[in-house]
Amino acid sequence: MMTADPSAPDVAVVRPAARLRGVLRLPGDKSISHRALMLATLAAGESRIAGAGDGADVRSTAGICAALGAQVERVTDDETAATVSYRVVSPGVDGLREPAADLDCGNSGTSLRLLAGILAGLPFRSVLGGDDSLRRRPVARIIEPLRAMGATLHARSDDSLPPLTVIGRQPLHAIDRWTPVPSAQVKSAILLAGLRADGTTTVREAVATRDHTERMLRARGVAVRTERLEGGETGAGDGAVAVSVDGGQSVAAVDERIPGDVSAAAFWLVAGSIHRDADLTLHGVGMNPTRRAVVDILRAMGAWIEESPDATERAADGVGEPVADLRVRSADLRPIELGPAEVAAAIDEIPILCLAAAAAGGTSTIRGAGELRHKESDRIRGTADGLRALGVDISVDGDDLSIRGGSPLRGAVVDSLDDHRLAMTFAIAGLLASGETTVLRPGSASISYPGFFDVLGRVGS
Ligand code: S3P
Repeated sequence: MMTADPSAPDVAVVRPAARLRGVLRLPGDKSISHRALMLATLAAGESRIAGAGDGADVRSTAGICAALGAQVERVTDDETAATVSYRVVSPGVDGLREPAADLDCGNSGTSLRLLAGILAGLPFRSVLGGDDSLRRRPVARIIEPLRAMGATLHARSDDSLPPLTVIGRQPLHAIDRWTPVPSAQVKSAILLAGLRADGTTTVREAVATRDHTERMLRARGVAVRTERLEGGETGAGDGAVAVSVDGGQSVAAVDERIPGDVSAAAFWLVAGSIHRDADLTLHGVGMNPTRRAVVDILRAMGAWIEESPDATERAADGVGEPVADLRVRSADLRPIELGPAEVAAAIDEIPILCLAAAAAGGTSTIRGAGELRHKESDRIRGTADGLRALGVDISVDGDDLSIRGGSPLRGAVVDSLDDHRLAMTFAIAGLLASGETTVLRPGSASISYPGFFDVLGRVGS
């Protein structure tokens, strides 16, 4: 149950719900929506994107694609599902033009990092900036490889923080690089730049991250090779991969339907698992193997999640994205131990998984979560402070978290730090906590999940 307090619009008050019931459609996947818009801008001709996320982040990308010279038309699909369709007509990568003003990425790290990769191969100057949160997020990790490819990049604070100026060049030099941290954004920036390079560009990752860029490029006629690397050979462990792309390939215009966002589904999967009277169905959720870790982690914790793969699943040929309907019901959860590979695989779901751990009987540990400090907020600190205020026994040691589950949640005032994933995590906690939970700065939920608080009000009764 949720009420917005009209005298204080920047808070949401959540009260405990006796039961959770509902059949939900999620917003279109944020990661895939960004990429669909960017790739449509690189492709000459008309692309249609159905079911895209309509959060503020995706809108930032759409605005930038238009500023670079694509015609971007947005049509609302269905307000409750928070999806939209786009029709993009682009002159193609060689017809894109220098933007007349700085490019505003808003709160979106994905827009900034991936677009930097694209702009590195375009022979003009552009400046990528954004809000206060984005201006605190690291960019050295993309400046270094894109400079090695021949582009000129500068950023604030000794080239560490946005705004980021990119002066592209054509052609770029192909490179072969290990990423400094497991990051799909860094990998994607290098691969997108690699399309404009003079040879084969290879990105090596010690831990494989989400592979939407690779799949979506393949679906648009670009050959991308992914090779598993032997642990012994690299010293990096068994999950290492090398992804290669040859420069000079063009991206074809396609029509695409975006699956529901598994990172948005995660809030309901945890709510449904830890609430004592819950039965929720989530339609059309993206089940990409590199994104579905939250489902497998919750199952390992004892969650009751039924998965019905969608008949229209397009995973068989290695392109496109598998989709499933998910049903979740109340369960008794066990604690879990997550290491750096699982953290990378469920990077956006760690805050809500901490809430799941708080409901599990026993101690859960999450190790090697340092990347969470570089998200829209310092999510290690924000998650720990918020859950502790709600009565959770949670401690932080460096980049590791330890959660002793089983203490009852009690309502409190919790600060989302203007971070969408924290706002939604604390709101879900409020469905179970005794008394009232007041979430400060809840509006950030619309970064990835417009309408989240309306859905919360409908699902809980
Ligand atoms: C994203 C990758 C992840 C994730 C972000 C979206 C993407 O970031 O946290 O929300 O779309 O590639 P990193 O790859 O930098 O960890």
